[in-house]
Formats: sequence, structure tokens, C-alpha cells
Amino acid sequence: MAVTEVEASLHQALRAARGTHRIVYDPLAPPMLIDHDDVYRYVASRDVRCQEGELLTLTGITSEPIWAFWREIMFSKNGDEHRRLRQIVQSAYTVPEVKEDRGEIRARALALIEAFADGAEVDLVGEFVEPIVAFGICNRAGYDVTDHARVMRWGRQATTVFVGLSPENQQETGDAFEDMFDHLDEVIARRQAHPQDKVIDRLIAAHNDGRMSYLELRAMLGNIVIGGYATTQHALIWLIWYLYHHRDVLIRIIAEPELIALAVNELLRIEPPVAATFRTAKQDLEAGGCPFKESETFMISFLSANRDERIFPEPDRFDIDRDNRRQLAFGAGPHRCLGASLARAIIEEAALALFTQRPQLEISGADSEWSPTDGFRELADLHIKL
Ligand code: HEM
Repeated sequence: MAVTEVEASLHQALRAARGTHRIVYDPLAPPMLIDHDDVYRYVASRDVRCQEGELLTLTGITSEPIWAFWREIMFSKNGDEHRRLRQIVQSAYTVPEVKEDRGEIRARALALIEAFADGAEVDLVGEFVEPIVAFGICNRAGYDVTDHARVMRWGRQATTVFVGLSPENQQETGDAFEDMFDHLDEVIARRQAHPQDKVIDRLIAAHNDGRMSYLELRAMLGNIVIGGYATTQHALIWLIWYLYHHRDVLIRIIAEPELIALAVNELLRIEPPVAATFRTAKQDLEAGGCPFKESETFMISFLSANRDERIFPEPDRFDIDRDNRRQLAFGAGPHRCLGASLARAIIEEAALALFTQRPQLEISGADSEWSPTDGFRELADLHIKL
């Protein structure tokens, strides 16, 4: 089915539901909040907590390497434990810190585009999006990536955890996690011996002075490397797709490059790469007009909140001039995305480089392959002709 048709039916269903309900039920998943104000309130509320591994139980995952990672990452921790870990890493991902990376991201993007042969058909995901996202993320973490495909594989396997895995898939995902642990163990050992002054070195120092355990250090590194891969990649692919289909906006951006920031924010509103998240009640409570008992889990739909017509009039229109400050693609509250500024920097610099160097690029094929899932939404494939 074409991208636009799938899009229309999904959003039609959510719109219809929002007209009469604040929560929707699916027999195969926890109930889901769909109203913008409920989503905003409960993603950040102190009455709920992030999943401490129950998500894996919920999706039937038993494989130990996957648990070993999830138990230790910041996203699975709450309260003081979460604050302790977040404080160690937070200052490295602020807007001013990340601003220093923009020149390098731009230079790498231009080099990748330079390598495209004139008139060639290019697999944009494999030859541009994956390498530039991998570069931006690993460059900030502070070590050279030589094998992008390997890092990409971890990211892809990690995202499958959200949608449930068959025993064979668990084996494959478990192997990818083991491979990631081996790699991170090597990187950490190397940097212990020859420290520099990058994010990874700051994390190792925090471990050395007792602020985090070795397993937390390794999980944190894994989290900041693979945590942003799939999401940033999907957002960049979607942005290229939207700008290609909104020539008027593209022409404005080429004339006034600073407009790219508005385009990225609007893209994140209309196509949030993380469609939904989970929260668990810390006590009996009412959410979306429904009672939940302590320890019960519900879902929170960023996808629905970001197209809630009460907040964003004509929500299906890609409009870079709208007020989209209340869009929730990066979540809100204590677990708000750590890498939001970095993701914006990568997407903005990469898209600007592509469209300023190759303004006449054409997307080839009728509609590129689209893989909707409950948790993540992606255009898996995008070929262009130069
Ligand atoms: C467009 C790209 C991205 C999107 C849409 C996105 C989205 C999100 C969302 C929605 C959350 C919060 C989930 C919740 O509260 O349940 C989150 C958390 C997180 N993100 Fe991102 N993300 C992106 C890129 C990145 C990047 C590049 C990094 C790399 C540093 C990253 C690292 C993290 C981490 C470590 C957390 C957990 C934060 C915590 O638990 O305190 N993300 N992300």
C-alpha cells in the first residue's frame, strides 16, 4: 500500500477515536492515551514510572543479554537512580555543547554527497542517512566508528525489542547485544588506557570515581549510541520525503537555510519517530478517564497527541509556520530525550547539505517501502535519482 494511503487510514482511525474517547483499547496491547493533554501530563507525571523491564516480559522476551542491557540503562530506572545516571551525562548533550559538532556533521554530509555519481540512482538510506546518523552520534560519544553497518545492526535489533520477538528473533537480537557488549568492552578498555576528553571519557571517569557501576557504564554507552540511531534515521528519511513533496517549503529553505529548524520541528510533530511509550502506575490512579491499579501499565501515544486538532489546527497539513512548540516527539519530563539537540543538529545539517548540493534530486519509484509498527514508524527504503 502506498505511504500516503497507510498514513491516511491510520490517522483517520486515531482522529475518529479522539472525537469521542481519551483512551483506546487493543486486545493485544495495554490501553493507550490519545488526547494531547493526557499524553503530556502522564508522560511526565510523578504518579507513574518508566518500565523497569516489565516491557520485556510483556513482549515475551526471556533472552539474558537483552535483559542485561535493559536492567541497567537509564531509561529503565526511576527516581534517584535515574537522576544519578542522568546527571552524569546530561551536560554533554545540551544545545551549546552539540553546536560544536555541527561543522563536522556538515563536512561529513558534504563528503558523502560528493561521492554520489552524477545521474546515478542512489540508495539514500544506505549511502547517506545511515552513515551520517552513525557519524553524528558516535562523534559526540567520542570515538571513531569504522564499521557503521555493525553499529546500525545493534540499533535495528534494539528497536525490535519494543514490538515483541519470536524465539529465533530473540536469538538474533541476543547475538547483536553480545556483539555490542564485546565492542563496548574493547572501546572502554582502550580508553581506560589512553583517555581523551570526550563523553566516553567522562563516563569512564564517573565509573572510576564510583558514581556508576561498570554495567551501568556499558549500558549508558550502548544507550547513547544505539538509542538515537533508528529514531534519528527515520526522522531524516521522513524529512527528505516531506521536503521533496513540498517543493514550496524546500524553495524557501534553500533561500533561507535557518528555516530548516522549523521544518524539522514540524516534521517531528507530523511524523514522530517514537509513536508511543509505556508508563506504569505507581499507585491507583485515573488516566484518560479510566481507573488503573498500582503496577498496571498503559501506553501513551505521541503520534495521536501530535495530531490532536484541538492543539494543532489542520493537523495533517505539513506547515512549517505553525506554532508547534507543544509537539511531543521527544517526550517530556524526567525521561525527555537526552539526545534531542543532537538529533536536531544531525537532521538539520544533513538535510540542508543534501538539498543545497542536489536540489534537483528525484525520489525514484512510486512510493518507497514503509514499515509501520506499534512503536516505531519508518520509511525503510528511499532511492533517489540525481
Ligand atoms: C529524532 C530523533 C529522536 C527521537 C524522536 C527520540 C525520542 C525519544 C523519546 C520520545 C524519549 C522518551 C521516551 C519516554 O519518555 O518514554 C527518548 C529518550 C531517550 N533518548 Fe531519544 N530520540 C531521538 C534521538 C536520540 C539520540 C540522537 C540520542 C543519543 C544520545 C537519544 C538518546 C535517548 C536516551 C538516552 C533516552 C532516555 C532518557 C532517560 O531515560 O532519561 N535519543 N527519546
